[in-house]
Amino acid sequence: MDITLIISAGILLGCLIGLSWFAGTDAPYVPTKMDQIRQILKLACTKRGRKFYELGSGDGRVVFAAARLGASAVGIEQSLLRVLYSRFKSASRIGSGNVKFIHGNIFSKKYNDADVVYIYLLHKGVARLEEKLKKELKKGTVVITQTYHFPNWKPYKKLNNFWLYLKA
Ligand SMILES: C[S@@+](CC[C@H](N)C(=O)[O-])C[C@H]1O[C@@H](n2cnc3c(N)ncnc32)[C@H](O)[C@@H]1O
Repeated sequence: MDITLIISAGILLGCLIGLSWFAGTDAPYVPTKMDQIRQILKLACTKRGRKFYELGSGDGRVVFAAARLGASAVGIEQSLLRVLYSRFKSASRIGSGNVKFIHGNIFSKKYNDADVVYIYLLHKGVARLEEKLKKELKKGTVVITQTYHFPNWKPYKKLNNFWLYLKA
């Protein structure tokens, strides 16, 4: 095969993988800034014995932060690339036994056993999750949204870019 063709195909594939890194249905990939997340997770009572879910977990950074606080932490992410990257980080870290990354759509999973849920999606995705979570979550579950908030559910606390909700 012509070498120019192989190089062009390689460049094209590289560009496609590069672009797909940022793609997402209910939000493109924009990572949470980590400076405040530990404080927010603590406020939401993320700790040993609690189950944490991140809906659209990106590169897994918030899942790891929740696990470091002792929670059993699960990330759900539609980008296979980001899930594999998160699993790779998880495999190379000591003490990440309480971390799990699931490849899939957040709307096709159930969150009945959650104690804390973290969401950083665009407004439409956050709004779509409101009814689902209100129906599914058990009493006492804390939901955190970042940048965008639920249209109807009243938060019990707002700190900078973060809204915290309690399932009554
Ligand atoms: C704004 S980024 C936030 C990433 C991560 N939560 C963080 O805070 O660092 C949104 C992530 O949600 C994922 N996502 C968007 N819609 C999704 C869906 N329907 N199911 C699963 N993941 C989704 C995107 O692929 C992207 O990684």
